[in-house]
Amino acid sequence: MIDQYSLYRLLPAERIFFAKYYKPGDSVLDHACGAGRTTLRLHEIGFRVKGIDTSENLIHVAQRRFPYIPFEVGSYCEIEEPDQSYDHVLISFNSLDCAWPEHRRVDALRECRVLKPAGTLIFSWHNIKAFHISPVYLQRENLAGTAAAFRDQAYVRCDSCATYFAAPDYVIDQTEKVGFRYLEQIGVRKITNPMLNRYVSPYVYYAFRKV
Ligand SMILES: C[S@@+](CC[C@H](N)C(=O)[O-])C[C@H]1O[C@@H](n2cnc3c(N)ncnc32)[C@H](O)[C@@H]1O
Repeated sequence: MIDQYSLYRLLPAERIFFAKYYKPGDSVLDHACGAGRTTLRLHEIGFRVKGIDTSENLIHVAQRRFPYIPFEVGSYCEIEEPDQSYDHVLISFNSLDCAWPEHRRVDALRECRVLKPAGTLIFSWHNIKAFHISPVYLQRENLAGTAAAFRDQAYVRCDSCATYFAAPDYVIDQTEKVGFRYLEQIGVRKITNPMLNRYVSPYVYYAFRKV
């Protein structure tokens, strides 16, 4: 697992969104940071960043590798940070989809109370509609996913664990209901067209603004 999360480079969607929404000196709360993949890069670019993850193991590794960056063990569902204390919250690489049961996702979204007014929330999630035709899922012959694609959301067994998948409009609606405004999205191959992403991108990055 440590190897898997030790590729310290940004995904194209992350690079594009950080350049567009993050300004030098901004503060970023990097949730579910794993071994600090995005935390390190954000620190190097010049942001004030703190990484939080539930895994003591991964936080221990991140803190040992990067002692100059603040890391903490904790859950995005219960954040011990003051209200309105960060410019941005990041939940990278579909990490919100680990929340179970589903209402814990909403708890995590509500905990973005730590964002300052007009702060940004950037996160990605697994796209249930991509099970219809996305080559990634077709290759895996994931029958459970193909059946789930007719629903708006479901926990689907992929590899060794059950992961949350949802339709883009479902999650946008869920996020807007807790006080965010949807800004834009980037899927695989930097696709920004929502209809293409809906059926082609196995996961999609979204930017929201706190209202
Ligand atoms: C797919 S990994 C992504 C790690 C990292 N964001 C990256 O891109 O390398 C998912 C991460 O979510 C973390 N996680 C799961 N549930 C969490 C929770 N409730 N609060 C914070 N982190 C959580 C896991 O420990 C794991 O590090």
